[in-house]
Amino acid sequence: MRTIAIVNQKGGCGKTTTTVNLAGSLAADGARVLVVDMDPQAHATLALGIDPEITEANLYEVLADEDGAQLVNEILVEVAPGIEVAPSGIVLSALEQKLAAERAEARTERLAAALGRLERPYDFALIDCPPNVGLLTFNALRAAGEAIVPLEMSFFAIQGVQKLLETIALLSERLGHEVTVRILATLYDGRTRYARETLAEIRELYRDLCFDAVIRQNVKLREAARRGVPVARFAPSAHGALDYAALALEVQASAPEVLEREVAHGPRRVEVRFRDAAASDVRIAGDFNGWIPDKDVQSRVETQGETRVWTKVLSLLPGTYHYRYVVDGRWREDPENPRVERGGVGEPNSVLVVR
Ligand SMILES: Nc1ncnc2c1ncn2[C@@H]1O[C@H](COP(=O)(O)OP(=O)(O)OP(=O)(O)O)[C@@H](O)[C@H]1O
Ligand SMILES: [Mg+2]
Repeated sequence: MRTIAIVNQKGGCGKTTTTVNLAGSLAADGARVLVVDMDPQAHATLALGIDPEITEANLYEVLADEDGAQLVNEILVEVAPGIEVAPSGIVLSALEQKLAAERAEARTERLAAALGRLERPYDFALIDCPPNVGLLTFNALRAAGEAIVPLEMSFFAIQGVQKLLETIALLSERLGHEVTVRILATLYDGRTRYARETLAEIRELYRDLCFDAVIRQNVKLREAARRGVPVARFAPSAHGALDYAALALEVQASAPEVLEREVAHGPRRVEVRFRDAAASDVRIAGDFNGWIPDKDVQSRVETQGETRVWTKVLSLLPGTYHYRYVVDGRWREDPENPRVERGGVGEPNSVLVVR
């Protein structure tokens, strides 16, 4: 089972819409999908046609007590062929307080433990997160191997994304658990220049992290949510359904087995060096590591006379990459690399070509 958290602390960026409709499109392709609603607002539960106020049990029962994990099978509701939901309810907002006294580790592993007790087989578990980074989101990231970050193509999308990627990286490090992150452009209105520019900028900055699929604004998505069905069933030829079908295909094509096959064709070991006499901390960030300094990088430092030499070892598939060094907290281009290109936000990035 692939477990994917749909996460962004920003409200209203399309998390729930993505969870429900990606589930709908994966199920339409024959997959068995479990939607896990970790948001006390219970919007995913509602958008799948379940009234959280009249469901007998929800995730709170499963997560609140140490021996609740086994109850997970009892709260699941089948909402459509191939789709089951683990419902939420407003009571889930009390979880943080309920678990406050417990060890941080035990508190954050509750959902992972529950998903480990599932009795029926699923191809995917999609976890809808609330719009904040608290205990519920921690639990989701601890349970997930992958994360999808929906980004609304409107003002400030770019401002928030770097911080969010850093937060997820930090969390996965703290939880001792690797999460592969990908970015999904949502609520895209191609008629506005602003949206087109934002999309281009996000793609320039985050290249491989971005899905090719883009979710356009489409009123059928709102209507489907109100009817309590995924758009793939409600209006299968609407833009919203086509966009989520494209996303489902991409998600299926990025299965870990498929990616492993690609990697077998050869990531290259690439070394780059930075020399300086005064610097004390040098890290590297680029589109290969989501612009998170030194993520996925092996680093070594040697002293040669007055100078210190930082060697960064990268593992990269053939392609063109952009990067900068972070020298004592300041971002700068590689002084030994003559090849630079202006990045999306105007600063020059050094260019690395791997053949
Ligand atoms: N592509 C789209 N086209 C039109 N409306 C959309 C689209 N995506 C989302 N919406 C609408 O925008 C609103 C916010 O979307 P959604 O609930 O999915 O965001 P969210 O990130 O889950 O919000 P929250 O942070 O509150 O959980 C909803 O009313 C939803 O129906
Ligand atoms: Mg939501």
